[in-house]
Amino acid sequence: MQPEDNLEIICRASAFFRTTQPQPVEGFARAREALLALCELLEQIADSIPGDIDRPICSSLTRELTPFICSIHRFEEETLYPLAQRQNGTAGQSDETIERLKHEHLEDRCFAEELTEALRELGERKVPQNPDALGYMLRGFFEAMRRHVAFESEHLRPYVH
Ligand SMILES: [Fe+2]
Repeated sequence: MQPEDNLEIICRASAFFRTTQPQPVEGFARAREALLALCELLEQIADSIPGDIDRPICSSLTRELTPFICSIHRFEEETLYPLAQRQNGTAGQSDETIERLKHEHLEDRCFAEELTEALRELGERKVPQNPDALGYMLRGFFEAMRRHVAFESEHLRPYVH
């Protein structure tokens, strides 16, 4: 997918999750698709540092990143996780898993704010101050997010219908 296409998926999903109360099946699918598009876009940005940075894409993502992530977390925590918890008979282990996922969300939101600053700088400046550190930061974020999404997909899919 091209960076523009990934950004488009992210922007549309962000508006969707902020303005509607999605049904579980549709919300689950759109959230997975959009989070993976975000991971791919961040990987494309990481690969473009330092010499080939698409600054308009970075600027657009600066505006979208945090609201997008927050809107998806809200859907998952208010709709998907309660759905899984209600259907899971042996609640203990499920509750522990859900708490861990919520904690990962919190970490991602903190990380997203840092990343937003870095993307803003990329959008504005010619050369990143520390390209290696920035690449490392981007990779740390999207690799953790891919693991989170993969785990959620496997753990939650049986409860989404
Ligand atoms: Fe999540």
